[in-house]
Amino acid sequence: MSSHRRLGRSALLAATLAATLLGSATAVTLADDADAATSLRSLAAATGRDVGFALAVDRISEPAYRAVADEEFSLVVAENAMKWDSVEPVRGQFRWTSSDVVADYATTTGKKLYGHTLVWHQALPSWVSTLPADQLRAAMRHHITTVVDRYEGRVAAWDVVNEAFSDNGDGSRRGDSVFQQKLGNGYLAEAFTTARAADPDVDLCLNDYSIEGVNAKSNAVYNLVKSFKATGVPIDCVGFQGHFVLGQVPADFQANLQRFADLGVDVRITELDVRVPLPADANELAQQAADYRKVWQACLAVTRCRGVTTWGLTDRYSWIPEFFSGQGAALMFDENYAPKPAYRAVAEALGAAPTPTPTTPTPTPTLPPPGCSVTYVPNSWNTGFTAEVRVRNDGPATVDGWTVRFAFTSGQTVTGGWNATVTQSGTQVTARNAAWNGTLAPGGTVSFGFQGTHGGTNASPTLFTLNGATCRHG
Ligand code: G3I
Repeated sequence: MSSHRRLGRSALLAATLAATLLGSATAVTLADDADAATSLRSLAAATGRDVGFALAVDRISEPAYRAVADEEFSLVVAENAMKWDSVEPVRGQFRWTSSDVVADYATTTGKKLYGHTLVWHQALPSWVSTLPADQLRAAMRHHITTVVDRYEGRVAAWDVVNEAFSDNGDGSRRGDSVFQQKLGNGYLAEAFTTARAADPDVDLCLNDYSIEGVNAKSNAVYNLVKSFKATGVPIDCVGFQGHFVLGQVPADFQANLQRFADLGVDVRITELDVRVPLPADANELAQQAADYRKVWQACLAVTRCRGVTTWGLTDRYSWIPEFFSGQGAALMFDENYAPKPAYRAVAEALGAAPTPTPTTPTPTPTLPPPGCSVTYVPNSWNTGFTAEVRVRNDGPATVDGWTVRFAFTSGQTVTGGWNATVTQSGTQVTARNAAWNGTLAPGGTVSFGFQGTHGGTNASPTLFTLNGATCRHG
């Protein structure tokens, strides 16, 4: 099926999702099942690979989120719901509500369930870190056994230990892990052995980041896996998280995956995202697509690569903007669930027909005027201010749901907003439409505002974007 058809399906899907989001009556019917054959899920299955995503439990009830999750992915992992602080917040008291949502979603949608994560120095309830060594060892064993037992037969693979190695470039163990500090190097083998005792069949994985290329950290992981295989410590796979900066997928990524596979373990890309400086432009999105393609081509070239999981589903809910100020747009679906060039690149890497290049030279289009105009009117006093932002849709199409972004340049801080949800991360300010003003017809305007504080100078932002497109300002 041509990619136009698939893109048509994806566009249909995006329109449906947008309509769903806005509750409009003009919902477009989803493409028929025949188009399911062009979903990433079906394309990846044909190659014997999993295509996964990290599920945020509080989002799965949103129709738009659910529709893409159901359609495009064959594997699901809990972004946070299976972490220690979620399942055992109090010693010996387990809470399965959130983790069961993910496990039940996998069951009802016929997806593989990937377990993340049993032992990690982060997302730990405070009671763990205060334990003396002998009790920490007992608590670790009990935690692993209880969680693995609960999901025995449902989880395909567990991240038994996550991020055990240091970032300091010398291949040493992570110094800020309470498990490393109190239990020493042996805690890794203990964790894997305990997990194997709890479930004889589940795959046991070691997961880490910044090990995608050949470097001191990946060499340390390699040597540990080699020693585990030599001494009979049960290990079945290595997870390469794949949190990439745009354009920085290592040239030796495939060779690195292959050398681990040659040790006799499976390899997985477990948390793929490619972060982009915001606002992302067309060239950056094209580079991101090339990065996604490269990751999948490497996985497809290594027999024991089981698949690729992205760390999230839509840019709207990615962890990146909160953790990397000014960065985002890291996933295959944008903030309105529309497939991005990265989606098409993955589909084509998985065998979908490439988008046909136009045979007749297309006339160079005269650039349309910017799709939007913005006026920004501040009202300042000694260290406070309010500002009204008025956005006009100068494009030919109705905007269904808008996100306006701009950056402060003199240290201002937003303290509250109206007519929009206004948030700030570093210097970046994001305003998302309210439930009542998300539709902007061509020529239509919407205004929103916010209160803020400043340190004496209150320079106005100069670059505004509407859904990623730069607006005329002034
Ligand atoms: O749910 C609570 C909410 O009730 C509370 O009001 C709020 C206050 O800050 O915190 C919320 O929990 C947050 C949780 O995400 C759910 O949103 C935690 O503070 C926050 O620390 C947590 O961040 C997660 C992070 O791991 C730490 O667990 C990110 O969403 C998640 O994407 C990130 O994922 C990790 C992988 O597990 C391991 N590899 C790296 C990757 C990125 O850091």
